[in-house]
Amino acid sequence: MARESRISGFYRLPLAERRRAVADVTGVELDELISSLERGGLDSTVADKIVENVLGTYGLPFGIALNARVNGKDRLLPMVVEEPSVIAAASNAARIVRSAGGFIAEVEEALMTAQIQLTEVADAPGARRRLEARSSELLARAAEAVPGLVARGGGPRSLEVRDLGDGMLVVHVYLDCRDAMGANLANSVAEALGYEIALEAGGRLGLRILSNLCDRRLVRVRCAARAEDLQTRGEDGAAALEGSAVIEGIVNASRFAERDPYRAATHNKGIMNGVDSVVVATGNDYRAVEAGAHAYAARSGSYRPLAVWRREGDLLTGELVMPLALGIVGGTLRVHPAARLALKLAHVTSADDLAMLAASAGLASNLAALRALATEGIQRGHMSLHARSIATAAGAVHDEVDRVASALAAARAYDISAARRILLELRGA
Ligand code: MEV
Repeated sequence: MARESRISGFYRLPLAERRRAVADVTGVELDELISSLERGGLDSTVADKIVENVLGTYGLPFGIALNARVNGKDRLLPMVVEEPSVIAAASNAARIVRSAGGFIAEVEEALMTAQIQLTEVADAPGARRRLEARSSELLARAAEAVPGLVARGGGPRSLEVRDLGDGMLVVHVYLDCRDAMGANLANSVAEALGYEIALEAGGRLGLRILSNLCDRRLVRVRCAARAEDLQTRGEDGAAALEGSAVIEGIVNASRFAERDPYRAATHNKGIMNGVDSVVVATGNDYRAVEAGAHAYAARSGSYRPLAVWRREGDLLTGELVMPLALGIVGGTLRVHPAARLALKLAHVTSADDLAMLAASAGLASNLAALRALATEGIQRGHMSLHARSIATAAGAVHDEVDRVASALAAARAYDISAARRILLELRGA
């Protein structure tokens, strides 16, 4: 584990010193850190072997969120994201949560779902009974399709038959994929069992594919925040909003999302800011994670927030539950040095461990967004961080970037023409 996820003044350090500080804290060699991130971590010749019609690679910022404590241990959270303020916001929220004990996370069971669709089943109840009666035999057959996984202690665990009506049955095979995300494993099992299942059911074989609504692979994260750590400061340093009022604002924001799908979508987007950033940094399939998260959010028939917040005495408490199918072996990880570096920097020990980190980043991002929204609004903090990209787009280089960004923030003018004007003045001077 990182000895210390708090590195004071980190964001003010020049890039080279920031890299050195992270190498020091994590025990990862500085040379390895630097070379893993060169050219976005991925060479064009390697990229050419991963997907088709390759022209090159496309880089994104790779950063580290600080201050996280997960299940009593300090952890660095690697994040890849193009949006300014996401990493700073997650770090700030993690600092607030830290003084009330940090994030408490768990993965209850970690099973992927493989689906086998059957149509034209004349006697659905009879087919279901026959399939259930043969479930151990079918699971044993499924295990033969994934011998490597079984050797690693994983494999098919149970089988469920669902009647979708009008002669359509679907068989779910639940699979422990250990440290793999498991899409290929689930698909192999579905394809290996399909014909036998169709034969037994007396129906026509349809699709054989995993489900991204992996609601048997849920991660749960809880955290608390103390009122005094939530209060905001005015420009003169005095409390602008008392902690208790901030708690009330955040709880109201949560209730808004619980009642309104329009708000729930944005609330969940704030959670996915944190989750996806860790998912992308570690080379995982963010489309699968997004599909699962939103399907799970809508499981009751109406779209709901993935995390909710309540007041408990003087504390604000939050809980996030969501499906997360992540892997730390196979896939992109075999070929992407930056993804492997991300796992190393975070000292990830298993796929479950990674899911707990990603979910903690999600809950931190949600808390940061709600706290800002319930107090001064997000635009001031967001735009002052965005100012550096505006300055760069206006042509600022080296130390000009921060100088133009500060001038934009001071003038509260966040547009490219203002940035160009400031840049000209600066160069003229
Ligand atoms: C912006 O990326 C995310 C937020 O809109 C999330 C939210 O509204 O809770 C700030």
